[in-house]
Amino acid sequence: EKNVGILAIEVYTPCTYISQEDLEEHSGVSKGKFTIGLGQEGLGFCGDAEDVNSLALTVVHSLLEKYQIDPTEVGRLEVGTETLVDKSKSTKTVLMDLFPGNSEIEGATVINACYGGTAALLNAFAWVESEGWDGRFAIVVAADIAAYARGSARPTSGCGAVACLIGRDAPLVFDPREKATYAANVWDFFKPDHSVEYPTVDGKLSQDCYYQALEAVYTRFCDKLCKNNPGMDFNASSHEYVVMHAPYNKLVSKSFGRLFFLDARKQKKEGKGEDNPAIDTEWLTKPLTETYTDKALEKVLKTLSKDSFDQRLGDANMASKMVGNTYTASVFFGLASLVDRVGGRGELTAGKSIAVFSYGSGAIASMYRLSVREVAKSSRFSIPKMVEALKLMDRLQSRDKVHPSELDLALETRARMHRAGAPYSPVYPTVGRMFPGTYYLNGIDSKWRRSYSRV
Ligand code: ACO
Repeated sequence: EKNVGILAIEVYTPCTYISQEDLEEHSGVSKGKFTIGLGQEGLGFCGDAEDVNSLALTVVHSLLEKYQIDPTEVGRLEVGTETLVDKSKSTKTVLMDLFPGNSEIEGATVINACYGGTAALLNAFAWVESEGWDGRFAIVVAADIAAYARGSARPTSGCGAVACLIGRDAPLVFDPREKATYAANVWDFFKPDHSVEYPTVDGKLSQDCYYQALEAVYTRFCDKLCKNNPGMDFNASSHEYVVMHAPYNKLVSKSFGRLFFLDARKQKKEGKGEDNPAIDTEWLTKPLTETYTDKALEKVLKTLSKDSFDQRLGDANMASKMVGNTYTASVFFGLASLVDRVGGRGELTAGKSIAVFSYGSGAIASMYRLSVREVAKSSRFSIPKMVEALKLMDRLQSRDKVHPSELDLALETRARMHRAGAPYSPVYPTVGRMFPGTYYLNGIDSKWRRSYSRV
C-alpha cells in the first residue's frame, strides 16, 4: 500500500482583518446583510506590501520550518493561484529561492479561478503514486488575494495561502479511484480587464454554476464510490466530514442542503424506500435548474440538513467565515480548519472520511475523498503533529481587527500599484502589522523585478 496523501498543512492569512458587522455599518447596508445574508464574520485583506508571491513565500517557508523539511527533500512544487503578477513568470519560480542547492523540482503554476490549487494537488497525488516518483516530497501551494470592486461582491473578498506536503504513508490518504470531475465553458467569473485587479463577475450566474458543478460531481462521485465499494450505498451523510470551496458560508450551507435534495431525487428515480414527506413530489421531478431560486424548497432543505451541516461542515467552515474567500486556498483553508478543530479535540480518528468539493469559475470542479489513517508512532507526520503546528484558531483570534476604512485604503493602494508600473515602492504600512515570518514586497525595480524581505 502506497497510502499517498497529505502529510502536513500550513496556512497563512494577514495579521489585519475587519469584522463584517462593522463593514455592514460602514457600507450603509441593512444590518445582517453580510453576517446573516452571506454568513460571514470577518474579512482578511492586505495592501500593496503583499502580493501573491509574498503570500506563497510566507506559507512555504513556514511549512519547511515547522516540519523541518530540508530543501533537498522536495522533488515537486506546484502552485495554484488566480492572482497573477508577472503572467509568464510563475510564482513557483519565485519560490525556488527557498530551495538552495536543489534546482531539480518539477511543477509550475496552474491557473483556473479557484480550482488551480486542486489541479496542483491532483497532479502531486498522481506524481507520488506513479512509477516516475523519485521518493521525494511534493509541495502544493494555493495562494490568492480575493479583491472585488466596490459593490455587492466586495464583502466576499479575502486573502490567504495554504501549503500542503504530499507523500506516501500519509495520515490523510487519497484514493485515485474515488474522485469525480466536471468541466464546462461558462462565463460566470473571469479577469479580462488587465487594467484592474478585480474580476468581471456575474454573482447570480456564479451561484448557479457552483450548484450545477456540485450536482454533476456529487452524482459521479457517489457512483464511483459505489463501484469501488460493492454493496455499499453513498449519500450526503456517508462521510463524517465535508469540505467545500467557500466563497461565503451561506452558499456552502445551501449547497450542502441540495445534496439532501439530490439524494431524495435519486431515491425516487430508483424507486428505493419511502419518499421524504417534507419534499413535494413535484420538486423531485422538476429540472434541477428550475429549483435553484425556489425559496420554499430552500427552507425545507435547510431544516432537513441543519444538524448534519453543523456536524459535518461546521468546523471546516469556521476559518473561511473569519477570513473570507481565499479563492484557490479556500478549500484548503476548510481542510486546515477541520484538522485544527476536530483534530484538536482528538476526534479526527482512523477510518473517518472527508469528502472535498472544489469549484473554480469558468468552470472546473472536482470531488474527492480523504481518509484518516493511523500512522506509526515514529512517523514524522501525523494528525496530532498537524494540530500542533497549525494552531489556526489561536492565530486567527490573535489578528488585529481594524476599521473597515482600512479595507478601502488597502485596496486603493493595490489599485494604484496595479496602474503605476515600474519602479514602485509599497506605501501600505507593514511595520508592526505583520506576523513574524511574513514576507513582504520591498519594491518593483525599474526593470519590473520584484524583491522580497521577511519580518
Ligand atoms: N439580513 C439578513 N439577510 C439579508 C439582509 C439582511 N439585512 N439583506 C440581504 N440579505 C440576504 C438576502 O436575502 C440574500 O439571501 P439569499 O441568498 O438566501 O437569497 C443574501 O443576503 C444575499 O443578498 P443578495 O441581495 O441576494 O445578493 P448581493 O447583491 O448582496 O450579492 C453575491 C451577493 C452575489 C454573493 C455577491 O457578493 C457576489 O457577486 N460575490 C462574488 C461572487 C461569488 O462569490 N460567487 C460564488 C461562487 S464563485 C466564486 O467562488 C468566486
